[in-house]
Amino acid sequence: MPRSTLPGELAAPAVIGRNAPLRAVQYLGNKSRVTGAIQDAVLSVRSDGRPRVLDLFSGSGVVSSALAQVVPVTAVDVQEYARVLASAAMSPSHIAFGGLLARSASRFNEVCSDANIGRLLDNEGRALAGQNLELIAQCVEHGSIAAGALGADDSGLRALAGLAAADLNRTASGTTIFRYYGGVYFSYRQSLELDMLAAEVRELPREARDSAMAALLATASALVTSVGSHFAQPPNVRQGGGAMKPKAVRSVAQRRLHDTGSTFAAWARRYNAIVPTKFDHEARREDVLEYVKQLPSDVGCAYADPPYTRDHYSRFYHVLETIATGVEEPGISMTTRGSGDLPSRGLYPLQRFQSGFSIVSRAPVELASLGHALAREGVPLVLSYSPVPETDKPRQRVLSIPQLLEILDGYYAAVEVWNVDGVRHSRLNSRALSASRIAGTEEILVLARP
Ligand SMILES: C[S@@+](CC[C@H](N)C(=O)[O-])C[C@H]1O[C@@H](n2cnc3c(N)ncnc32)[C@H](O)[C@@H]1O
Repeated sequence: MPRSTLPGELAAPAVIGRNAPLRAVQYLGNKSRVTGAIQDAVLSVRSDGRPRVLDLFSGSGVVSSALAQVVPVTAVDVQEYARVLASAAMSPSHIAFGGLLARSASRFNEVCSDANIGRLLDNEGRALAGQNLELIAQCVEHGSIAAGALGADDSGLRALAGLAAADLNRTASGTTIFRYYGGVYFSYRQSLELDMLAAEVRELPREARDSAMAALLATASALVTSVGSHFAQPPNVRQGGGAMKPKAVRSVAQRRLHDTGSTFAAWARRYNAIVPTKFDHEARREDVLEYVKQLPSDVGCAYADPPYTRDHYSRFYHVLETIATGVEEPGISMTTRGSGDLPSRGLYPLQRFQSGFSIVSRAPVELASLGHALAREGVPLVLSYSPVPETDKPRQRVLSIPQLLEILDGYYAAVEVWNVDGVRHSRLNSRALSASRIAGTEEILVLARP
């Protein structure tokens, strides 16, 4: 069966420059375009003699890695995948990917020696190569082995997946991505290969783990077949009336022929080429509001980029979180569709972090707590107010700019607003700040000084 690497985006560049952050994950609302302006803003308000800068809500880690080129940085995000991405971007450790790939391939062969799993992968390979579109569409819609156990109906490859699942009851450990997301977000083969690589990465010494895990998260993001390359929902493979969308299914088939091992190797090369930063840095997995309760004395500025819509990030990146944490049984939350309860289409886990910053009634209170905790310690704040990310269901922001400024005015002596346009930025006066200027497409930085 022909297998290929992803084009263009995965070709390893010869050298990663100091200021070229890796975009391992297509992260909604990431600030890779405006890291220069953020550096400028942070340096213009940072307190003298307190060099450390916080990257609160660090997400993809692109801001942390840019800041760490010029100042000591602490990145904080509540998601483990975000801690891994920030840590790997700032503290690269060499990924010996040849050995990792060889060991994971032998694990893979061992699991595939089970007759039903072997047959499932062979039949899937034939369906993909032969463009058996109906079978592929059924996998996307109903292919999750774990969801099948919750009572959805059997058909096509799923019958085989059911047999494989029965076998896996004996050896289920370490096959979470295969059992939950195989068929739906990845091919069964890709998902099992991701599991085997994850098992090998977890066995690495602690100091070598984050870079290899980041390369694996990047691999999962590069291979996923979904709406928007995240994990909120699998691709729509049918029209409203039930007819299949052949073009969409062909594109799923195409992506599922991409090779996991060479995709991982390409990302490992990229990570291996990162130039280590000369400043001290750390990445933490923690609720921001908990972290700011006890600030280290060397913190001279906080940059914060909270979510501003009701879409929780944990919905879009739950599969990355499962890979990063190694949770064996994330479970699947149910939704009411039609006449009864069915597994959620996106296969969301039972436990997902719900951010107060994404809840209309709590967002103002949480922002006030953040402003209070930072201002009390005399720490200036640079706050992003971002365009609404383009998601499947674009939403209104939970906070308006006048609300936000009023909250910060309560804690800070001086609040200034920058409009950031690519690398340039300009100060906004109060008239420009009126609602018409903040229409939703501008990148705004709010600079608050105690
Ligand atoms: C807008 S994104 C940040 C994007 C980031 N600046 C970048 O460039 O990639 C918001 C982030 O806030 C995190 N988050 C939401 N609520 C949080 C909380 N209470 N504590 C810590 N992190 C939180 C989410 O996990 C998400 O990664």
